[in-house]
Amino acid sequence: MTILAHVSDLHLDGTDRAHRRAERVFAYLRDLPAPPEAVLVTGDIADHGTASEYEAARKLFDLPFPVLAGPGNHDAREVFRTVLLGEAASPGPINSAHRVGDLAVLMADSTIPGEDDGNLASETLEWLESQLSAVDGRPTVIAFHHPPVLTHHPLADRWPLLNPGELASLLQAHPHVVAVLTGHAHTAAAASFAGRPLIIAPATTWTLQFPFESAEPGNPDLPPGLALHLYTGGHLITHFRHLP
Ligand SMILES: [Fe+2]
Repeated sequence: MTILAHVSDLHLDGTDRAHRRAERVFAYLRDLPAPPEAVLVTGDIADHGTASEYEAARKLFDLPFPVLAGPGNHDAREVFRTVLLGEAASPGPINSAHRVGDLAVLMADSTIPGEDDGNLASETLEWLESQLSAVDGRPTVIAFHHPPVLTHHPLADRWPLLNPGELASLLQAHPHVVAVLTGHAHTAAAASFAGRPLIIAPATTWTLQFPFESAEPGNPDLPPGLALHLYTGGHLITHFRHLP
């Protein structure tokens, strides 16, 4: 069985509060008797995209298993690349392919620099197409920041993924994609997209509340959470944890 942990929306902003909540989630993973094969982080790692925020993230991600990080609308590509990933500066999308246990994991960049909406750029769609062909039918998860469906929350849906249809077309040609994994909505949620599971990881920083729950859209007091994706026998199941 492949165990893939999934953390999102840390919004590290230099405050103890944001840092402690993210730390709680990574400490939980680090202290498991059997650690996950990898943890993927689906964006909004930094709140303002500053070097000091990515330095804090780099320390948090210093774990005895791989941390696969992709950007969100609060992240800044150049600083993300140089400080967090230790790569050369470059303005292009941050896409990366990995092998985790039985799974291929494609971390895609759904951000538009300077904007909060999401978009899978043609460069990223071409990269996904080539990677999906190259894995030769291996079960694959695709992870990025902006959910390709509406959440039915007015705040979360203000900045959607603008081109979900292009992703749906891509998935039709690649039945070995077993799930699409995102963040951005600050709520643990499950849906389907193009006939595949679509799982949204909760945030570590604060939790989205719906108008039928509260007039306040964000609750900073609900505990930080994460998703644990278990893959075996051709199926993926997700368990969520919230850590008071
Ligand atoms: Fe976001």
